[in-house]
Amino acid sequence: MAFVLSLLMALVLVSYGPGGSLGCYLSQKDVLVGRENLRLLGQMSRLSPQSCLQDRKDFGLPQEMVEGDQLQEDQAISVVHETLQQSFNVFHTEPSSAAWNNTLLKQLCTGLQQQLEDLEACLAPVTGKGDSALGGMGPILTVKKYFQGILVYLQEKENSDCAWEIIRVEMMRALTSSISLLERLGKMDGDLTSS
Ligand SMILES: *[C@@H]1O[C@H](CO)[C@@H](O)[C@H](O)[C@H]1NC(C)=O
Repeated sequence: MAFVLSLLMALVLVSYGPGGSLGCYLSQKDVLVGRENLRLLGQMSRLSPQSCLQDRKDFGLPQEMVEGDQLQEDQAISVVHETLQQSFNVFHTEPSSAAWNNTLLKQLCTGLQQQLEDLEACLAPVTGKGDSALGGMGPILTVKKYFQGILVYLQEKENSDCAWEIIRVEMMRALTSSISLLERLGKMDGDLTSS
């Protein structure tokens, strides 16, 4: 534990080093908080996934959230930010607090908020939400639609325990993707490799 703590401290200190081309401090710390959020989501599990097979659904996790290769750096950050914000919105609700262990849920929401605050410094001021005027469906809109589907699903299933279990697993996939995107951005910025 002591080792892990000192490692964390070291990484936190590193993260306050000079920012890269992004002009903000996107760093290993954000990735660590993201991993901790995933760990919490894993710990929240109450039902065996086997018991909820009948409620499975393909929510169509957007390619933008998985790969992000075709996105510019500021767009990718906006996609991660939107994913975290929407995930927070999903879990920061009354039905959610009825479904989950509130201690773990609070920690998760706090972690998501912490990530959001860190990322806010990295959001491009001009494009703002990352949807450019290129026409078609921007990446942010795609993410919004994906989460819309999740909220509709929960409503349709009347927030059943199985529905929340399915969403918990889906959110783990979404947040895993956002960590990968962050890691890739960190590498692009030379921040992760320098430590
Ligand atoms: C919630 O989770 C925490 C941490 O795992 C545990 O200590 C606590 O007993 C749980 N509470 C309930 C009501 O299950």
